[in-house]
Amino acid sequence: MKKIAVQISPEAKTAYFANYIDVAQQELIQVCGDIPFSYFKIGALEFFELASTDVNLEQLLKLSFTQGLYAIEGELLRPLDLSADFNLHEDFVFGSKFKGKTNERLTQMLINVGLSAINETTGKGLKLLDPMCGRATTLLWAIRYGFAARGIEQDPKAIEDIHRNLKKWTKLHRQKHKLSEGFIGESRKKKLGDFLDFSAADTAMRVVSGDARNTEQIFKKEKFDLIVSDLPYGVQHFTTEKTRNPLTVIDECISGWKNCLKKRGAVVLAFNNYNPKRKALIEVFEKSGFEALSFSAKHRMSESIVRDVVIFKLSE
Ligand SMILES: C[S@@+](CC[C@H](N)C(=O)[O-])C[C@H]1O[C@@H](n2cnc3c(N)ncnc32)[C@H](O)[C@@H]1O
Repeated sequence: MKKIAVQISPEAKTAYFANYIDVAQQELIQVCGDIPFSYFKIGALEFFELASTDVNLEQLLKLSFTQGLYAIEGELLRPLDLSADFNLHEDFVFGSKFKGKTNERLTQMLINVGLSAINETTGKGLKLLDPMCGRATTLLWAIRYGFAARGIEQDPKAIEDIHRNLKKWTKLHRQKHKLSEGFIGESRKKKLGDFLDFSAADTAMRVVSGDARNTEQIFKKEKFDLIVSDLPYGVQHFTTEKTRNPLTVIDECISGWKNCLKKRGAVVLAFNNYNPKRKALIEVFEKSGFEALSFSAKHRMSESIVRDVVIFKLSE
């Protein structure tokens, strides 16, 4: 095999809209480094051709836009009989639809670029936190990648919904698992929040109903390799203060997130570039000793949302 073609899934269009090729290119560059590649089309099918086979095929299969891989043999493309090695059934991530769900492909991309920022290729043995986790799309992806996953969500109804969905998918797919609930804090009266624990496939997640500004108190002594979140867009999702601009709350979260992040760790955030602007978001992180990588994945979702992604690492 001399060259590989990566077929671009039509799902990339639902995730990244008209900008799907640009975003896919950015993800490919971030994850695969400086391997030269070019875009080509056969009829309605779209591909990237990689100029080298010196690449981790498992990473290629896990890219958020990959539909399949091919060996390029002269004029012909030979499909490679390979699929990504994930835990759990895909229904755990894709099966449930709910208002405000973060697109599953975008969420996958956040994990991929996060892993590349810390020079890792799998979540096995690593810990991921989504401090504004909604109904756990990122956390369930994280489990599929092998991470131990933790989440915080301000909406107390979220835990019930996550619980219901987990029961449904574990039953349907006969997935061996453990589910339990409780509270954290000294006593019920002084509790910091309720939690839901789920373990399956040699890994586990905990979702706490609480405020991301209390991350350090909620996950005492835990250190994370990645903090990954799709921030409230100020359109459907507001923050605790019911403000349209999540920046004030983010500013108040950063020191707690920093104290829970491993030194070599990374923070990956998706946000509506109208609110806050990328520059303003970077400024509040820089104030706390972070630096932003050059990675960006800007795509227009609607009149009022242009989503982007930023990766932060602690400054040396
Ligand atoms: C864009 S949504 C995330 C959706 C999630 N990724 C999913 O697919 O379910 C942002 C979430 O942040 C939550 N949120 C906003 N401010 C928060 C805070 N201070 N602490 C915890 N959660 C917060 C919102 O309730 C909302 O569920």
